[in-house]
Amino acid sequence: MTKAEAAFAAGGWHLPPFGRWSPSDWPEDRAPVNEIIRKGLGWDVTDFGSGTYSEIGLCLFTLRNGSLDDLADGGGKVYAEKLMYVDVGQVTPLHFHRLKQEDIINRSGGILEVQFHPSDDDESLGTGDVEIVVDVGPRTVAAGGSVLLVPGESVSIPPRVYHTFWAVDAPCVLGEVSSVNNDHTDNVFLEPAGRFPEIVEDEEPLHLVVRDY
Ligand SMILES: [Fe+2]
Repeated sequence: MTKAEAAFAAGGWHLPPFGRWSPSDWPEDRAPVNEIIRKGLGWDVTDFGSGTYSEIGLCLFTLRNGSLDDLADGGGKVYAEKLMYVDVGQVTPLHFHRLKQEDIINRSGGILEVQFHPSDDDESLGTGDVEIVVDVGPRTVAAGGSVLLVPGESVSIPPRVYHTFWAVDAPCVLGEVSSVNNDHTDNVFLEPAGRFPEIVEDEEPLHLVVRDY
């Protein structure tokens, strides 16, 4: 979180004030802040169950999120946005989303590599090409192929396309703009992963994380 906060500040990215709350800043009455709780906004640090956060992990801050009910109704808040911090060689493991279309945006920092694989109907790894859109137009990528994004560039990833990413030469601040995000039902990891891993409580929390509330 400390590294992410420094990188966000260096890139000129401001979190909403609740992103700076320490545990004691949380109001006793949660009703006025129920958007945070209901939508799962705020800090989210995961090692995907790896136990080696620096190699397999991601630090995220969910800025906004919609609801699946709105998505089903075809109106209302059907979108989500995140700010993320990824270190050099720190991998978010291969996964796809059943429903969520997501754009991953290199907001600032180094070069981001995003690698793709198609999926089969049984959610295993497929073969053949993947069709994505990199800002200006379509891009066809062979299974296992990747794109490199410099700051400002983005890739739009359709549902059911496996993807994995990491920073190449310097840490990256990433944006994610997507349809509604549901980490409990929508993510399919090729290797079983713990999306909300156990936390060893060996020091006072700087900020609460989504799983705390
Ligand atoms: Fe994803």
